[in-house]
Amino acid sequence: MNWPKSQQLLDENSRLIPGGLASLNRKADPVIAFIRAKGSRMWDIDGHEYIDYHAGFAPYILGHGDDDQIAAVIQAMQGDLSNYGSGPTREEGELARLFLKAVSHCEKVQFFNTGSEATSQAIRVARAWTGRAHIIKMQGGYNGHHNAVATNLMSTCEQLGGSLVHGNEYPCVPFTAGIPPEEKALTHAVPFNDLDAVECMAKKYDIAALITEPVLQNIGVVKPQPGYLQGLRDLADRYGFLLILDEVKTGFRSSLGGYQAIAKVTADLSTYGKAFANGFPIAALAGKAKYLDLATIADAQKRVLVAGTYNCHPVPVAAAIACLRKLMDPDMDVYGKLEGLAQRLEVGQNELFKKHQISAVISRVGSASCAYFTTHGEPRDWWEILQHHDAAFDTRYRRALIERGIYHFPVIVKQGSISFAHSEGDIDQTLEATDNALRELTRGT
Ligand SMILES: Cc1ncc(COP(=O)(O)O)c(C=O)c1O
Repeated sequence: MNWPKSQQLLDENSRLIPGGLASLNRKADPVIAFIRAKGSRMWDIDGHEYIDYHAGFAPYILGHGDDDQIAAVIQAMQGDLSNYGSGPTREEGELARLFLKAVSHCEKVQFFNTGSEATSQAIRVARAWTGRAHIIKMQGGYNGHHNAVATNLMSTCEQLGGSLVHGNEYPCVPFTAGIPPEEKALTHAVPFNDLDAVECMAKKYDIAALITEPVLQNIGVVKPQPGYLQGLRDLADRYGFLLILDEVKTGFRSSLGGYQAIAKVTADLSTYGKAFANGFPIAALAGKAKYLDLATIADAQKRVLVAGTYNCHPVPVAAAIACLRKLMDPDMDVYGKLEGLAQRLEVGQNELFKKHQISAVISRVGSASCAYFTTHGEPRDWWEILQHHDAAFDTRYRRALIERGIYHFPVIVKQGSISFAHSEGDIDQTLEATDNALRELTRGT
């Protein structure tokens, strides 16, 4: 497969936009410029069709261009709804009602445009509540692009000091320039699934909050070990910091109530985005009322600002309401269908890995999964991925699938996501392509 027109578009855009595209996280090899998507499929400018498992970094839980959602958005616009910028709207109230019904462990909710805004607000609320400044995050966790959390994602072995850390923090490895040193000194990255490390931080620093994805889904699907999330809950209570579970990826995807409904552990604050609006830009901070109500507390010294010109713009609000109604509709059984499709894919992939004698393990939570090429089982943290995952094979595997019309984002350990629009036929076609890809990749070995 070749993508000459895609490359040409990137070159043209690059003269005007640094890097040629609006989010540099979207830059990957091969460069593919998509021009259309519907349901489970995407089409590129070079004339190729793909079954999509990237889902735009996971939001598209219903699939691209869901008809009910598009109808709701058109109706909102044709009904002359606008972003009035003054006073409450009926629609934001309706969205909050539906949202809190789904995420029933949360008492109140505030809406934003992006996941990064939601996580940044969560940290601000935690700092305001506790009067403390330090935060704990996970090595291998992504919680947005702002200074407090733009560190320690897919760090290299060398950046991490070359050896495994247990019971302590990793060196700070920012993934952006421009973070002042005094801000870097406030963020402590610890290994996932390591409660000793969290306790060590809590003893050493005045911790305002620990923020983590409940399942690390920006390095595939790295699950919490049994008891880990409850352990975080207990440490937060013991040392007086807030537990922020960042469900921007797991929310409405792991289950309707997110991963917290599965783990039965409740955070103080939770952040959401992505799947609850099926690809439209809206995000949320939700949790216990006493924390969210800092926004309106009488004491101006303790009050936390909540502001945003586009918060609850009618287009994403209509999209989110339509998406939530569908996700919550028992007749649709969205999560039942997703589980069935995801199992079919997982079973088929495992059979193919066995047939082609590939050492691999699939880690999956609901419709989100990742294949790790390792003999060591499911990784428990980023260090285990660095040590045991065959990154070179993963790169070749993703490329071979793309060449056969199966689109996974071509960066190692990026999560694959199935949507409600996928069919059993899509899964079977994917498995056939996987069989061909593995045949090519193992030829001569
Ligand atoms: C877990 C998590 N938190 C926060 C964010 C930031 O969301 P956004 O890109 O909408 O700012 C992301 C984005 O991928 C994410 O995966």
